[in-house]
This record gives sequence, C-alpha cells and structure tokens, in this order.
Amino acid sequence: MNTAPAASLAPLLQSNGAQTLTEQLSAQLAQRIKQGLLAPGARLPSVRECAKRYAVSPFTVVAAYDRLQALGLIEAQRGRGFYVRSVAVQTQRSAASRPRPQRVDAGWLIRGMFNQLSENLQPGSGMLPAVWLENPHVGPAMREAARTAPERWLQYGDPKGLPELRDQLARRCIEHGVPATADTILTTNGATHALDLVYRALLHPGDTVLVESPGWFVEFARYAEAGVQMLAVPRLINGPDLDVLEALAAKHKPKLFVCVAKLHNPTGSSMATSVAHRLLQIADAHGFYVVEDDTYADFVEACSTVATTPRLAALDGLRQVIYLSSFSKSLAPAWRCGYLTAAPALLERLTDLKLLSMLTTQPTGEMALHYVMSTGAYRRHMLRLTEHLQRASARAIKLAEQHGCRFVIPPAQGLFGWVDTGVDSEKLALALLDEGWLIAPGALFYPQRSSEQHGSPYMRINYATSGDLKFWRCFAQVRDRLK
Ligand SMILES: Cc1ncc(COP(=O)(O)O)c(C=O)c1O
Repeated sequence: MNTAPAASLAPLLQSNGAQTLTEQLSAQLAQRIKQGLLAPGARLPSVRECAKRYAVSPFTVVAAYDRLQALGLIEAQRGRGFYVRSVAVQTQRSAASRPRPQRVDAGWLIRGMFNQLSENLQPGSGMLPAVWLENPHVGPAMREAARTAPERWLQYGDPKGLPELRDQLARRCIEHGVPATADTILTTNGATHALDLVYRALLHPGDTVLVESPGWFVEFARYAEAGVQMLAVPRLINGPDLDVLEALAAKHKPKLFVCVAKLHNPTGSSMATSVAHRLLQIADAHGFYVVEDDTYADFVEACSTVATTPRLAALDGLRQVIYLSSFSKSLAPAWRCGYLTAAPALLERLTDLKLLSMLTTQPTGEMALHYVMSTGAYRRHMLRLTEHLQRASARAIKLAEQHGCRFVIPPAQGLFGWVDTGVDSEKLALALLDEGWLIAPGALFYPQRSSEQHGSPYMRINYATSGDLKFWRCFAQVRDRLK
C-alpha cells in the first residue's frame, strides 16, 4: 500500500474570505482523488504531517478529512490512518449518462423543473424564479418562532395544524367569503397533499372523477396510477364546458370534479360567476363534490376582473365544495405549506387521514408562516411579487406574439399563458431540450392522450420565466425546422 507522495499535496492554502481553510483543503484533496492523482488504496499523510505541509492547524486537517469521509472519498482504518477508498461512493450520475426521453410525460416535466437544466430560466417551469421569492422576513420568522416557543420545535404538531395559523387562515378564507373556522381548517404539505387526502377520503379504484381538460397534469398522473377513471371536461374561456359536464355526470355518476376556478393552470383563464352558479346546481343535482383548487389565490387580488367574482366555496357555503390552497407559488414551494377546508364531518375524516398518512405537518414552517402573515410582511411581499409578475407578463406576451405564437385564451394576469405554436409541441419540446430549454407541451395537460391531443400545437408559458429573447430566437428556429 503506497502513501500519497508529499509533492502531490501542494500548493499551500491561503486565507481568503470566500472559503475556509477546511473547505479549501478538502476541495483540493477531493479533486486529486477524482483525478486519480491520489490512487485508490493510497494512504493519506497523518494529520500532523498534513498540517505541517499545509501550514494549517491539525484541527483544520481533521475537519477536512471528516468531510472527505462524509463524501465517501476516503476511509479511516482504526489505528492505521486514512486511505483513499477503492471504490468512491458514487451517488450522482452525470447529466450525459442520463437517457434522453423518447416522449414527454408528467414525470418528464416535473423532473425537468426540479433538476433545472442549466442556469437559464425555463419557460416550461411552473414556478417563479427563486430571486423573486427571496424574502427578508424568512430569517426573522424562524428566529422569532424559535425564541417564542422553543419547545414546539421539538414536538409533533397539532393534528389539524398550528392553532394560531389555522385562525389566520380561517380569517383569510372569510375575507374570500368562504365560511371557515379555525376548527374546519386542516393544514397540509402543500396543495398536492390536500388533494391527496381528498382523493384518499372519497375515491376507490374504479371510481369516476371529472377533470378539466386541459388541466394540471400531476393530478391526472395520480388518478391514472390509482385506477380512477377520468372523464375530461373541456375548459373554455369562462370555465368548464357545462353541457359536457352535465351529460357526463348524468351518465357516469362521478364522485367529484376537481377544478381551478381562478387563474387556471395551464390556460390562465378564470370561471365566470354564472358558470360557477350553474356548476354548483349540476353538482347538487347529481350528488358529486366539487374540489376548488385555489393554489393561485394570492395572485387574484392583482387581477381586477377576477378578484370580484366569488369563490365556488363562498357560493356553496362549503356544503359540496372542498376548498384548498397553498403558499407554494406565493412564498416558495420549499415551504410546503397548504391547507384545506370542508364541511365539519368531512374535515374530521380528512384529519384522521392526515394523521394516518404522515402524523402531523411540520410546526416549524407553520410557525414561520404564521409570523409572516400576522406581521403584514406577507401582504407587502405579495404586492412586490405581483408587480414583478405584471412587468414580466407584458414582456413575455409581446415576445411570444412577435415569435409567431397565438394566445388561445386572451392572456390574463396569472402565472401562465396558453399559446398555439403552430407545430406539434411535443416534438418541439424534445428538440428544444437538445438546445437546453425546457418547455411545457400541450399534450401533457390532457387527461387522456387521445389521437386528437397527440400532436397538440399548444404550449404553456410561464410569464415569469419566458422573457429571455435567446429562448424565443431558439424557439423560432426550431419551430421553423419542424414546419
Ligand atoms: C393547480 C395546482 N394545484 C396544486 C399545485 C401544487 O401545489 P403545492 O406545491 O402546494 O403542492 C400546482 C402546482 O403547479 C397547481 O398548478
């Protein structure tokens, strides 16, 4: 077994503000191991020897060796010293070794969004840029929560969620006309978890649900996995096509209809009050629940036309409507804070299911959310965010139109626009991926991939991430090649 030659450990480290000596030393050694300059099985110098060579303290060397061990690059052999591992623990595949997808599906887009392809903002993303979401109140919120109730950080939370947050959320619902109380609010890990609980409470394999088409693809993928039959209700400019919905309800006896009434994903459209009234009448006549997914709730205030129309849950008084919302789009997806409200008996059942599925939600995040909401910081943050969005939308709409896209639904002030690209957007998505751009092709947003939707020319754009002229130039070139 050979000891790493002293010469291979130069150069000396320098104190600088950017990296600690420990970080520099561990980075240098890691690089040498990865380059093969320190071969598998080689013994590293003793702590004392290494400290002398690098003119650092033994403490720095121990800390650097600890890091290399944690990275799986070296191992300590009791009483003998540190050795380069023969097989470095490799946890990451290089991007190049990942297979290029043959077709696009929900998983494809979600993975693409979560593993950002590059530094570029991605027009197909469903999120706002991280810099927009930077919030100076997060740190103080966490500190305040730790200061005022340190013991709560160490316990499971309340089954329904942090009581003072539920109180705040109930007030927010009441402002929207939704008759919730702190006792009929259930906090969740985002809207996705709320939808999951509803699905567990009300659906069994073989049941039928009505879904919007186009609509949010994650919901479709979940139903498909669970063996629940989806019936597509076309989403029109003012909401769902109620003639189709009524006919389907009469024939198939669905258990529920899931919809995004305001600032719909992907079209950006909102439901008219007359449509909302008739939808509730149909639900009443055919005995199905309406799940109102109000994930984009806090962007509604900025849209004067949309802000004045009532929520479905407000019109119905939470009899047949289950209302849910989230802070993923407004604060940050990482908060994983959402909630739902429903009729009291159903709410209790949903609470049991929450406990069975994950015990409680995290009190820490809920305490921080309560802090930003109760201090007014959240309201100020939303004002800033919606101003950003308005500016970005104006630019993205102009660029999309200049590059030959037609808005299928007139653009509103939400996060998304729904455009006709003039070519098969699935092919476009695969070709643009090769150029480093992720787009959200229309076919993804349909519950059934019928031949009609196959080759869909539609594409969802995120206004916040579609303002880069480089993207649109590339888009136009690739699109013209496909024509
Ligand atoms: C309609 C709709 N519901 C729910 C979600 C997910 O929300 P959350 O991150 O709170 O789970 C999204 C995210 O894109 C969405 O568009």
